Amino acid sequence: MKLAVFFTLFTFGVSVLAASAADWRSKSIYQVLTDRFARSDGSTTAKCDPVGKYCGGSYQGIIKELDYIQNMGFTAIWISPITFQLQTWTPYGEPWHGYWQQDLFKLNSAFGTAEDLRDLATALHNRGMYLMVDIVVNHNGWNGNASSVDYSVFQPFDNAEYYHNYCTVDYDNNTSIRDCWLGDSNVELVDLRTEDTVVAQEYQTWIHQLVANYSIDGLRIDTVKHVDTDFWSGFGEAAGVFITGEITNGDPYGLCPYQNYMDSVLNYAMYYAATAAFSSTSGSMSSFVSQLKGMKSQCKDTTVLGSFSENHDQPRFASLTDDISLAKSIITYTIMSDGIPIMYEGQEQHYSGASDPYNREAVWLSGYNTGAPLYTHTASTNQIRSHALYVDADWLTYKNWVIYSNSNNVAMRKGYDGYQTITVLTNNGAGSEDYTLSVTNTGYTNGMTVVDVLSCEVLSAGTDGTLAVPMSQGLPKIYYPVELLDCSGICGY
Ligand SMILES: *[C@@H]1O[C@H](CO)[C@@H](O)[C@H](O)[C@H]1NC(C)=O
Ligand SMILES: *[C@@H]1O[C@H](CO)[C@@H](O)[C@H](O)[C@H]1NC(C)=O
Ligand SMILES: *[C@@H]1O[C@H](CO)[C@@H](O)[C@H](O)[C@H]1NC(C)=O
Ligand SMILES: *[C@@H]1O[C@H](CO)[C@@H](O)[C@H](O)[C@H]1NC(C)=O
Repeated sequence: MKLAVFFTLFTFGVSVLAASAADWRSKSIYQVLTDRFARSDGSTTAKCDPVGKYCGGSYQGIIKELDYIQNMGFTAIWISPITFQLQTWTPYGEPWHGYWQQDLFKLNSAFGTAEDLRDLATALHNRGMYLMVDIVVNHNGWNGNASSVDYSVFQPFDNAEYYHNYCTVDYDNNTSIRDCWLGDSNVELVDLRTEDTVVAQEYQTWIHQLVANYSIDGLRIDTVKHVDTDFWSGFGEAAGVFITGEITNGDPYGLCPYQNYMDSVLNYAMYYAATAAFSSTSGSMSSFVSQLKGMKSQCKDTTVLGSFSENHDQPRFASLTDDISLAKSIITYTIMSDGIPIMYEGQEQHYSGASDPYNREAVWLSGYNTGAPLYTHTASTNQIRSHALYVDADWLTYKNWVIYSNSNNVAMRKGYDGYQTITVLTNNGAGSEDYTLSVTNTGYTNGMTVVDVLSCEVLSAGTDGTLAVPMSQGLPKIYYPVELLDCSGICGY
């Protein structure tokens, strides 16, 4: 026992400056699909077929467009998996997304060199920003069916003994979810025996080196529910940095337990509920509210979950509705609620691609328009979040709660007395009539002057802090005490 502890400290104790969950809590993440964000040549016209080939995005391209990301208020990026991929054409195109890895110890040269990746980490750190890297530990990618797999192409797991036998996933059977293969006979995702000590230790060695070699600050882990849960503690210790996991589960009782194995999970439960509530004027606000409560009661710490409303695996919000007020509302929810906001590249340009791969459009084709309505909206929303947590760091750990709701409106409070933001959202949409919403339980004092930082309209709180909120065009509102805005630059203060 003593020896094991000593070994652990000795091997993994060097990353003392590594970013923890507490460090990440204040961050706001922009999700980059490396191949689709920016090219080294700075092109804004290069054609990109979402289905097929690599489109030419690169680490040097990202470096050139860091202003675009940072000026939207983001303080971290999440990039695609960086490892070496299968090399041939498949019926689903090339592995430009990075999820079909074959060699853990080599990089995908399509995105640049090792030096380019280190340059990206340095460029981010020089701006005080963090680098999150997407990783896959559940499987390797094979271009063909199960009986044709040549295990010798995989590194370091170059023999069938490291893998489960082929079977297709039965989602009603937990053993099957863990051990069977994702993918299909066009591209098989050959499933690692992560429960095997040799496999687990090799993964630990790898991740420890990877984090150190490229100064990685955090990891996003793919297909977590397909890996045995015992794998994670040793892996997380070896990584030594913040980890958020992908578990596609809309049920707080199914999702939250994963926070026992890793710092954080992507908040899929709220993703589903928020999308349902805000993508239609008849969406259910009461389901949204009860899901928020469910997550708070079931999860260990909602304030470090990944809070998102789009990603590369789900149809974009604008493929469900083109209403710009609804788009602003769901973005406002993800940034002002508990957790680490994550915005998927192209969301700020109101991209509308539906299912994968059509939701993976090249961002350069937008010309990186910093005047786009959702770009400026996101910048304002990230700005008030950063300001609120700067004025009072406890704003971050205060658990967001619903202070008011009816069938089409919801008001949420985050922050202790005197420092709270009150976010008011509706799914009535851009075409709705003006109306006034009487929001109680704000915690503001009688007569306190607050401002909606999105419109810069000032309000005076009434009896017991009640706000008479003038709702217009279905737009979101974020109220904050005026006296805390001195020298912030927000709304001219
Ligand atoms: C698997 O792929 C190989 C090589 O393409 C092919 O010869 C074989 O018939 C396939 N087997 C099955 C069961 O589809
Ligand atoms: C499968 O695992 C989940 C927890 O991840 C558990 O709630 C459920 O009961 C399990 N199902 C079976 C059939 O064992
Ligand atoms: C669950 O899946 C495993 C792995 O495929 C299989 O061996 C087992 O028979 C399945 N159990 C049931 C009850 O179907
Ligand atoms: C990290 O760098 C060392 C030294 O260059 C190298 O031997 C090792 O393979 C690298 N590991 C990874 C995972 O990149």
